[in-house]
Amino acid sequence: MTDEDITLVRESFAQLHRRRNETSELFYARLFEIAPDVRPLFKADLAAQRVNLMEFLAVAMATLRDPKGLTVLLKKLGRNHRGYGVQERHYDQVGAALIWTLRTSLGAGFTPELERAWTSLYGEMANTMIAAGRGA
Ligand code: HEM
Repeated sequence: MTDEDITLVRESFAQLHRRRNETSELFYARLFEIAPDVRPLFKADLAAQRVNLMEFLAVAMATLRDPKGLTVLLKKLGRNHRGYGVQERHYDQVGAALIWTLRTSLGAGFTPELERAWTSLYGEMANTMIAAGRGA
């Protein structure tokens, strides 16, 4: 990601974080609509999981200029996800639900540049998690 991408992604996330409850509800509703088979993997309270996700993303935003620190967090998260029964194909579905949520939430503010920046960030995060889940 370029420095400009980092700035764009952070600004857009700050907007979503201000309405994190609503945004994360939208995200999970969309995910379970396009990938109903993942619903049973979520065993804990979904309200708590919504907070976990948004807080992890907030930490990720803060560490975007410290890729090594973020990689350590993502590797651990990737190993955890393997244990939750998450399969590699699910990462594309979560990515699609994320981009849909951003587009729905930000409307016209979700520019093509922003979409490229988020797609690239999510792809990097997912690849690191998947590799860690394989034991790399
Ligand atoms: C970049 C991608 C992702 C991020 C940042 C993320 C973030 C998180 C975080 C922070 C947690 C809290 C528990 C922990 O820290 O281990 C979690 C749990 C979980 N995530 Fe993810 N996740 C991602 C991708 C996925 C994917 C692709 C799936 C597939 C459906 C998924 C399903 C789950 C499940 C099932 C749990 C456990 C919930 C429970 O115990 O009820 N996540 N995720």
